[in-house]
Amino acid sequence: MAKILVTGGTGYIGSHTVVELLKSNHEVVIADNLINSSIDVLDGIEKICGKRPDFVKIDLADSKAARDLFSTHKDLDAVIHFAALKAVGESVNHPLKYYRNNIFSLINVIEGITKQGISHLIFSSSCTVYGLPDRLPVTESTPVKSANSPYGNTKQIAEEILSESCSVNKNINCISLRYFNPVGAHESALIGELPLGVPNNLLPFITQTAAGLREQLSVFGDDYDTPDGTGVRDYIHVVDLAHAHMAALDRLIAQNNDTNYEVYNVGTGNGHSVMEVIQSFEKVSGVELSYKKVARREGDIAAIYADTSFAEQKLGWKAKLNLDAMTSSAWKWEQSLRSKKG
Ligand code: NAD
Ligand code: UFG
Repeated sequence: MAKILVTGGTGYIGSHTVVELLKSNHEVVIADNLINSSIDVLDGIEKICGKRPDFVKIDLADSKAARDLFSTHKDLDAVIHFAALKAVGESVNHPLKYYRNNIFSLINVIEGITKQGISHLIFSSSCTVYGLPDRLPVTESTPVKSANSPYGNTKQIAEEILSESCSVNKNINCISLRYFNPVGAHESALIGELPLGVPNNLLPFITQTAAGLREQLSVFGDDYDTPDGTGVRDYIHVVDLAHAHMAALDRLIAQNNDTNYEVYNVGTGNGHSVMEVIQSFEKVSGVELSYKKVARREGDIAAIYADTSFAEQKLGWKAKLNLDAMTSSAWKWEQSLRSKKG
């Protein structure tokens, strides 16, 4: 059993990872400022696990507050750093907000673990670092392309900061996980994604449309060079993604890592088009979705999906849940939200 600090642990991916950590009998401290999550998430976690994680409300971009956090939690074995702002469009309009939040938080976390002698760190990166890839599927050595948003740039800069910090400080062992498109929710429907306002992402937009909150889904582009003309992504069930964090943590704690900075793609390895996602959703929900094909969304790429063989080989991890499991769990979560809100 280890004691793990989970920053951003009341958020979407963080909360699902906290559940898996608690199920494996780890002790968890969540640090979150609740800027994009609700304290009620702790109730959902407790209902699933029968245990409630410790919670500290803190802005990790505030260096003094972060120093206090690390000095009051000296006995941590590892940190999983999810906390970040993630809205691509907002980052274009408010770049400094994103650089300040995402980069300052990361620096404060690295300084905290260095000062307290905590050796293990897992960082949430994104497939956005690959930009528009020349070849598919993308491997970890596919070149990083210049970012097309400040949000994407924070992930690239963060990876550079981590790689450089690890190269001068061999006491830190870090794994960056490049997530592809996380979707779905815990099977209990007690935790899930809580988008603020109108969702930008495909699956929450689909479930909100089916639930009657949105009139119609716009399918952005049907003239891409893909089998059915709509955009292709590597959707990964958030519970599979949570398990990838467990595998990365095990690798670090067992000191099985080959170098003190490793990077892994975390996807399923399968690309699915927007139309395939809609068809899966209609099949599992029995709801006929209102949608319309419209022009491409600016900044979107045609297709991206992962080569996951490195994670399979080194982490011993592979995604297990298919697209229907993703869309059905997302729908169950949306229905549970609506029943709570009446
Ligand atoms: P989320 O917004 O649900 O969770 C992030 C959490 O961090 C929230 O609870 C928020 O309140 C908290 N937070 C943000 N800034 C903070 C700060 N300064 N101090 C303390 N807490 C702060 O997002 P998510 O989808 O769970 O994403 C988790 C991580 O994964 C992020 O780093 C995100 O960039 C990355 N990621 C997400 C996706 C995706 O599609 N969801 C894809 C790739 C990478
Ligand atoms: N899409 C629609 N209609 C919508 C929303 C999305 O047709 O209303 C399409 C998009 O055009 C794309 C696919 O559904 O083809 C997936 O779009 P998402 O917005 O769900 O996801 P993205 O792949 O665009 O974005 C994700 C993450 C970002 C990250 C980006 C880059 O959400 O954080 O990948 O890799 F920056």
